[in-house]
Amino acid sequence: MIVITKPKEMTRAARRERTLLRQVGLVPTLGYLHEGHEALIKRAKKENGLVVVSQFVNPLQFRAKAYRDYPRDFDRDMTVCERLGVDYLFSPEAEDMYPEGFDTSVEVKDMAGRLEGASIRWHYRAVTTVVAKLFNIVQPDTAYFGRKDPHQLAIIKRMAEDLNFPVKIISVETRRAKDGLALSSRNSLLSGEERKAAAVISKAQKAIETRIKRGEKNWRKLASGLAAMIEKEPLAEVDYAAVVDADTLRDEVTSDSVLIYSAVYIGGKRLTDNRVVKIPSGARSGRRA
Ligand code: PAJ
Repeated sequence: MIVITKPKEMTRAARRERTLLRQVGLVPTLGYLHEGHEALIKRAKKENGLVVVSQFVNPLQFRAKAYRDYPRDFDRDMTVCERLGVDYLFSPEAEDMYPEGFDTSVEVKDMAGRLEGASIRWHYRAVTTVVAKLFNIVQPDTAYFGRKDPHQLAIIKRMAEDLNFPVKIISVETRRAKDGLALSSRNSLLSGEERKAAAVISKAQKAIETRIKRGEKNWRKLASGLAAMIEKEPLAEVDYAAVVDADTLRDEVTSDSVLIYSAVYIGGKRLTDNRVVKIPSGARSGRRA
């Protein structure tokens, strides 16, 4: 495995590899790799001749404290990537990604404002900006993203299509711990007690899924039911809970699936999770319930 830190070097290496007619797959990450990331990397390995993993804690997409606190362990990330047969690990410095004078951003407008996006537009702007840069630096044929972050996934698909990036966006199912908690680098910041409490999130989402499968379709009521169930756990504070159209992420449900989504603070750490549920036939509502 080759570790590259300079964007220009990464572009040169990827270009060289592509002249060998190798299909290039990119897995963008913030690092501190877990089995969720591993699922993306393994899929990329299966489907490409060459795999590039990027590890970059993008300062633009965090508030200052969250950026400082974000877990980092480059040596461990390197070991994981080697074990999985990654060809290139691209790990740039912030000053190389955003040198003096950097002044451009990429923004998906309407889609970024949906779900809880209205209050964190700056975050999604930072994500699309860094992913656009990574696409240009690596010039991959395919790029892998987790369904753990459905809003991020939708925005990146929109950006790739709107800006004609010649990259196929592939989504991968969420990996979970035994008690259902979605794997996340942030889970490492939880105390033992908080970690136990965090299981309430997926349990509550599963309960809402069951209600939908039984024919309930009052999405607003289901969303408040989700929040109430989570808040029964004293360590949990719901920041956002919603049941929306899985395709458009709008309150109005017009497709055949809904997205159950929540963002929850557990001991000050913000954990997001979601579940997509197919609406049983006959239960779909064309209007906001
Ligand atoms: P990060 O949180 O490190 O996640 C990297 C990728 O792994 C994302 O596509 C995310 O959806 C996926 N992922 C995270 N947890 C997962 C899980 N439990 N199961 C399956 N996939 C999972 O998301 C980011 O980084 C950044 O915003 C990034 C796209 C790299 C831009 O900076």
